[in-house]
Amino acid sequence: MQSIVVKAPGRINLIGEHTDYNNGFVLPAAIQQAAIVSISKRTDQQIHLTAVDVPDELIIDSLLHLSIQEKQWANYIIGVIAQIQKKYILPSGFNIALTSDVPIGAGVSSSAAIECAVAFGINELFGLSIERMELAFMAQKAEHEFAGVQCGIMDQFASVFGKKNHVVLLDCQSMEYQYFPLVLEGYQVILFDTSIKHALASSEYNTRRKECEQGVALVKAKYPTVTSLRDASIEMLNESIDFQTHPIVYNRCKYVIEEITRTQNACVDLQANNLEAFGQKMFETHQGLSKLYEVSCPELDFLVEQVKNNEAVIGARMMGGGFGGCTINIIQSEKASQIIKEIKTAYQKSTGKYLKHYIMRIEDGAGIL
Ligand code: GLA
Repeated sequence: MQSIVVKAPGRINLIGEHTDYNNGFVLPAAIQQAAIVSISKRTDQQIHLTAVDVPDELIIDSLLHLSIQEKQWANYIIGVIAQIQKKYILPSGFNIALTSDVPIGAGVSSSAAIECAVAFGINELFGLSIERMELAFMAQKAEHEFAGVQCGIMDQFASVFGKKNHVVLLDCQSMEYQYFPLVLEGYQVILFDTSIKHALASSEYNTRRKECEQGVALVKAKYPTVTSLRDASIEMLNESIDFQTHPIVYNRCKYVIEEITRTQNACVDLQANNLEAFGQKMFETHQGLSKLYEVSCPELDFLVEQVKNNEAVIGARMMGGGFGGCTINIIQSEKASQIIKEIKTAYQKSTGKYLKHYIMRIEDGAGIL
């Protein structure tokens, strides 16, 4: 095989936010928007990169000399190539052309989509036989080492393992996963995009990770078997962290511990087709992310507040890392266009900004086109 075209999608996450790097549960799904890469072998050792949408290009002289680039889009690609080369030998250079319709900065993992498409594509093109799970981990590592975000595994996992019309419950401790059909008869999943991405998003993300680690260390001092917030209960938290002394760490841990339980319970609701109860938990998640975990922003809070008392909206919350991006909403199909219209007007009035929306379809994860 001399060339290949592959795609890897972005993701939504129904519930289980900021739980992945705490060994908790997440409930994501792959979406219709995807990164598409075309990769062809070269006869030399060079890597030629083309970002079709920017448009922009970059030539790397040798695939053996990879370093962080000024062009951010290139880091998502090179970061993955570097991970692959830690374990596998690539026999030649290659050309990669990238295009993507995953909205950037919307919290739907546009970067994971690129990373996973590249990982999947190189694996196929060179017949490396890397397992899907390892591809997801390589893509995650690329984000850590070349984009500087200490992300969890959810986004890359969802992009690689997504299944049409299903959500996937991932246990980020054991990496076991289970698909659930997402049957939303009469309802739609709709994202409202604030069009805001605060610059502090990545640094605050890394800070949250550290705060959780501090929390684990404090709990561990009293309960030595605890290795992550997955192992901790609210009682254990109360016994080992004094709110007065460590208010921030306490709140971060409280949110995570509650969210891990909430996600498990939400899956029970989903299986019982109890959408009302599921949606209620989404609102609770938002409250926790906003008040305890403090990763929301006024625009996201505004969007959730707007739909909160609307009977046609089953659930809503901010989605992804936070500090901008989208809210995810489950809305009665019949009322959807009216609600979208009203929210757009209200958002424009309140922020002066145009509110974008996306009606989501759940699709398969990474694959050959
Ligand atoms: C980002 C990260 C994920 C996850 C979410 C929050 O999308 O990449 O690993 O932590 O934020 O749930």
